Amino acid sequence: RHPGWPAKLGPLRVPAGILAVRPVRLRDAGEWSRVRLRDREHLEMWEPTGVGPWPDRNAYWSWPSQWLALRGLARRGQCLPFTITVDGRFAGQITVGNVIRASLRSAWIGYWVSSDIVRGGVATGAVALVTDHVFDFGGLHRLEATVRPENTPSLRVLAKAGYRQEGLFERYLDVAGGWRDHFCYAVTKEETGDGLVSRLVSKGLAERV
Ligand code: ACO
Repeated sequence: RHPGWPAKLGPLRVPAGILAVRPVRLRDAGEWSRVRLRDREHLEMWEPTGVGPWPDRNAYWSWPSQWLALRGLARRGQCLPFTITVDGRFAGQITVGNVIRASLRSAWIGYWVSSDIVRGGVATGAVALVTDHVFDFGGLHRLEATVRPENTPSLRVLAKAGYRQEGLFERYLDVAGGWRDHFCYAVTKEETGDGLVSRLVSKGLAERV
């Protein structure tokens, strides 16, 4: 067992519905694949360059190996791989990865949300829930999010959740077939006060249920 894992977070009421976050499951395969095959245009330009065609990489039979890999990393304390649900249904993923402990105690955070429920506060709520969780129970002190400058919705999510822009990483990640510049956003524990969820609640952007 590693600090903060496994965990169920929420629920939180956001405009899209009742948001919760829980560990990825093997039986997410069907919904994970259905949504990702449909949402290729919504997702592909923001995701790491993959090996092989999108329909193969996102077929339901490719989930078990991804799930096993994520579970293995989670068991070693290197990753916290969560599924996002809205009203109890699969709605996307949020992952804390590359967890480094010792005197860095830092990791990255990344997320995606099903195209049929975007613009309903889901990603913002999920980022707030997971950030508070890893600071309070995961032993981490800093989270980083890297975003392409063109990704307006994701930049908005990080600003709403309370992350700060720290700089520009040039040719940083192999995304959508090329080395893409990324803005680096970050937050450290001391900046979060009573927590990012509390801040969303006090701004009227989410409600605890
Ligand atoms: N232009 C301007 N603003 C936009 C646009 C647009 N085309 N589309 C959405 N927005 C705004 C919304 O209005 C909202 O802001 P508001 O509340 O001020 O109105 C904000 O962007 C989105 O906020 P949420 O509703 O909390 O986020 P959502 O649940 O819609 O998810 C996400 C956002 C995750 C970026 C989703 O669009 C997605 O999955 N995109 C594809 C994958 C992706 O880009 N993932 C992030 C990669 S970067 C990273 O992981 C750190």
